[in-house]
Amino acid sequence: MGNDVRLQAGALAPGQTVTFSLARAGRSLPAFAVNHAGMVHAYVNACPHAGNRLDARAATLLSADGRLLACSVHGAVFAPDTGVCLEGPCPGARLERLGVTRDGEHLVISAP
Ligand code: FES
Repeated sequence: MGNDVRLQAGALAPGQTVTFSLARAGRSLPAFAVNHAGMVHAYVNACPHAGNRLDARAATLLSADGRLLACSVHGAVFAPDTGVCLEGPCPGARLERLGVTRDGEHLVISAP
């Protein structure tokens, strides 16, 4: 039973994000991937501050300058490569990281 999500490796350009869902423990888990400087990172789409989706109140996962991940609910901002909150109500807290592996032309995102 595959709970992984496969993305076309070339489909996510630097600075872009994509949202999707993963199955974990029989439940649908909102998630996203971000291409940061050519490296793709993936996280559960749940803010460590209060558990909201980062894009709950916005059409983007990014800060206004596009350099950081941002939570639209109370304004936490996160480093895209580590998922660590840099500023806002939860400094030092982390987004939950998902596994990203390469399989030919695809990136395989998996829940831990
Ligand atoms: S829920 Fe994200 S900053 Fe509060």
